[in-house]
Amino acid sequence: MGSFPKQDQVECKEKAEYANVNWDELGFALTKTDYMCIMNFNQDERQFSQGTITRFGNIELCPSSGILNYGQGLFEGLKAYRKEDEGILLFRPEENALRMKIGADRMCMPSPTMEQFLDAVKKTVLANKRWVPPHGRGSLYIRPLLMGTGQNLGVKPASEYTFLVYASPVGNYNKGELNLMVEDKVHRATPGGTGGVKAVTNYSPFYKPLTEAKAEGFSDVLFLDALTGSKIEEGSACNIFILKGNVISTPTADGTILPGITEKASWNLHQVEELAVPIEEVFDAEEVFCTGTAMVVKSVASITYQGKRTEYKMGAETVAQKLHAALTGIQTGVNEDKLGWTMAID
Ligand code: COI
Repeated sequence: MGSFPKQDQVECKEKAEYANVNWDELGFALTKTDYMCIMNFNQDERQFSQGTITRFGNIELCPSSGILNYGQGLFEGLKAYRKEDEGILLFRPEENALRMKIGADRMCMPSPTMEQFLDAVKKTVLANKRWVPPHGRGSLYIRPLLMGTGQNLGVKPASEYTFLVYASPVGNYNKGELNLMVEDKVHRATPGGTGGVKAVTNYSPFYKPLTEAKAEGFSDVLFLDALTGSKIEEGSACNIFILKGNVISTPTADGTILPGITEKASWNLHQVEELAVPIEEVFDAEEVFCTGTAMVVKSVASITYQGKRTEYKMGAETVAQKLHAALTGIQTGVNEDKLGWTMAID
């Protein structure tokens, strides 16, 4: 068969087919898509099977499974973006695979190989292609889960494991301004605990303070370190950066802070100092912003600590806005990807 010149191939590219979704109304909530990908750990071969694409739906679990009884599980979050030419890009999926591997080691679980992780993510996105929002109108959030699914009543690692990837189109994580309340009683993580990995059990323990803060009109809580209660760590689902003069700093991720993939990307786009950040530093910061896969980069409007509210610079001239534009430009294929962060998958 003869080969066509590149130009003809571009012109012949089929128009993408889209699911019937009101893309502009999307927030951060589950919209059920068509398919998910599942891999089971084979005990004899000591490895995960090849991923199988099945219809998205409920899964069966033994009531005594490790995930249900003892929370032996991890999750990841990454996004697929639609380019202007309707191609699809993943943003740094290898970083998620690596983070899951480190987490699996901490949680005494086997992890899929890098190749298996990437294959399952790609298969899930391609099977749900029509749910990847049009360019500039959201993204497909991909949620890999690794869990102990074998029965175990005794307190010990599960006998079987499942790796599952599902996806949902999403819009903005937070609508409106980000007003943080410093939580000085409940801690998200303790030294030696699991705060530095994406354990499923890291989240529901802070629902109580988060719900209370939201009832008072705040959008999120900002956690302090458990040892001294004097240094800022992170929000419920995001890393934090503060800007003073020309210096941007972020708390050192040394086991009690989740090493963020968007956070790391931000360091590459702007020089950042990673150090301990005492709570007092937020009182005279000029700008504060949060990063996360779900949140991307978002300016913080205010931080309230023990009744004292500090407000920060917002708007088009902020470093946060510039970082947001640079990052989303790369993620959606608008800006040149000089660092090789994106992976085309169609
Ligand atoms: C992400 O940004 O992917 C997160 O993990 C936040 C999530 C808890 C919504």
